[in-house]
Amino acid sequence: MCGIFGYIGNKNCIPFIISGLEKLEYRGYDSAGMAYIRNDSVLEIKKVVGKVQNLKEILDFSDFSKVGIGHTRWATHGGISVENAHPHTDCKGNIVVVHNGIIENYKELKELLINKGHVFKSQTDTEVIPHLLEEMVDKEEIGLEEAVKELFKKLEGAFALLIMDKRNPNILYALRKQSPLIVGFGIGENFIASDIPALGDYTDRFYYLKDTQMAKISANEIKVYDMGVGKYIGVEPIRIPQDRIRAEKNGYPHFMLKEIFEQPLVVRRILSTVNKNRDELQIEDIKSIDISWEKIKKVFIVACGTSYHAGYYAKFLWEEELPYFIEVELASQMHHRNLRVPDETLFITISQSGETADVISTLRKVKEKGFKVLSLVNNPQSTVARESDYFINLRAGIEIGVAATKTFMAEIVYLGLLKEYVKNKLYKVKIDLDKWNMLPTYLENYLSNIKDQVFETAKKYYQKKNFLYLARGRNFPLALEGALKLKEISYIHAEGIPAGEMKHGPIALLDPETPVFGIAYKDDAYSKMINNLEEAKARRAPIIAIGNEKDKKLENLVDDLIPVPNIDPFYYPYMGVMVLQLFAYYVADLLGREIDQPRNLAKSVTVE
Ligand code: F6R
Repeated sequence: MCGIFGYIGNKNCIPFIISGLEKLEYRGYDSAGMAYIRNDSVLEIKKVVGKVQNLKEILDFSDFSKVGIGHTRWATHGGISVENAHPHTDCKGNIVVVHNGIIENYKELKELLINKGHVFKSQTDTEVIPHLLEEMVDKEEIGLEEAVKELFKKLEGAFALLIMDKRNPNILYALRKQSPLIVGFGIGENFIASDIPALGDYTDRFYYLKDTQMAKISANEIKVYDMGVGKYIGVEPIRIPQDRIRAEKNGYPHFMLKEIFEQPLVVRRILSTVNKNRDELQIEDIKSIDISWEKIKKVFIVACGTSYHAGYYAKFLWEEELPYFIEVELASQMHHRNLRVPDETLFITISQSGETADVISTLRKVKEKGFKVLSLVNNPQSTVARESDYFINLRAGIEIGVAATKTFMAEIVYLGLLKEYVKNKLYKVKIDLDKWNMLPTYLENYLSNIKDQVFETAKKYYQKKNFLYLARGRNFPLALEGALKLKEISYIHAEGIPAGEMKHGPIALLDPETPVFGIAYKDDAYSKMINNLEEAKARRAPIIAIGNEKDKKLENLVDDLIPVPNIDPFYYPYMGVMVLQLFAYYVADLLGREIDQPRNLAKSVTVE
């Protein structure tokens, strides 16, 4: 959450910062701001409520500054207002800070600083930082660099910080504790940002700052100080080619739609990492994993939001064929659980960003207790990927739409393949890879065949205020995902409910104004699902269903049937997911919502 971007070099920083912030806007868009030092001497701070576009409108593009920092905010402490927008300064307006994360001990620090005479202008936790630095520099008479290092000791919580001092426009300081920060190496100029798409237009050489590292950045040099080691260390930038970074809409009106349509390609990419050597299944990322699958007693999956739904789906899939008890829990709930699990428990965390704070804290907690953790993550450089014992790269490519789509597909596909891999290992059974290899083509054809019908269905229902998504068994997590997609981008209230639970309470919600969206293809839950949809029909609820084509019983029962072809049921969930995503997308589009950046949300949730 929150995006930060910094530039130092010989060119004008303003266009760089604006373009960087636009690419980081998916991380937070409650307000935006930037600071730069005009003509090497005058500190300019520009802040607005709302998007980077609003910031652009108040900027003077004829200003020139060789150094600057910018921020897009996702509000945590303090409401959405200009004074709470970043950057924040000290009392004298010398030291300027932008921050991503939460300073947990800010109240104590603020009180202390107020008692020492500092005057605060905002309600944010961040503002303590420039005042604290001012205090150390002016009263304790230590240089800014030493004061900056002291922040690692004085601040509790998570932070990525950029710090600029008007009196020394040749240096930027960047600090990381938990929240991500990446340095981009240029020629005669350097960059720093919360995420790589903001840097991909300017360089292909990067260094991901690690926890408790500080970068001292000038136009011609990047030095990295490691608090753990207690000195500056040598770092090697990694090269990531621009075509792997650049995120463009390629003619689609929104990233989300582009990402939905990219799913067949993502699945194809994933399948290119899977092989059979005689009858032994091999998956590239787990070749070197030394998990003793036969010794595992329990598998514990932890994730948040959409990734949690992927884990929940996998629970059903795995329990059908593998000999494990699978537990799935929300990472935010793990803080409140007393872990009593067998020693031979394998933890699996799932996270597209790899930076979700609740996932990171769970990962650390269970590792501390000596458990091994396997993670599925879409960013190999992320904290979750780096700190896990084993790691599968989801290979979905950068996902810009705040609503996760292609990363969810990558998660359920990899979890399905992993199940096949373990089954093959444990029971030496042959795995039918041909079935998997057909999946991308089926998905591709299905998307182009079904999209217009999903759009027409969305047109019929987009003005409704409540939706219930019903399903049973392994389709239930998909119903949860469908409801989440709808509510997060259209702001319509939607609930995923296990169809069998309706009669225990939620059925009271049904009326002709509350559409039910059922998942009712012909699988082992089919006949019970039909009964549950009949019950909904009897309460005059309009019914949309994903089901098999030419299923007369279903056709007669529901108002709108979105069909899957009569092929192997193996393919239905993957197709069903795309219908749910498209439906949410079209409804939100018809309502004119900001689909790629829905209100109050952020792509990477780096606070607990
Ligand atoms: C919903 C969505 C969120 C994320 C959740 C976890 O579309 O994207 O619910 O799934 O914030 O994020 P990751 O997967 O990055 O840990």
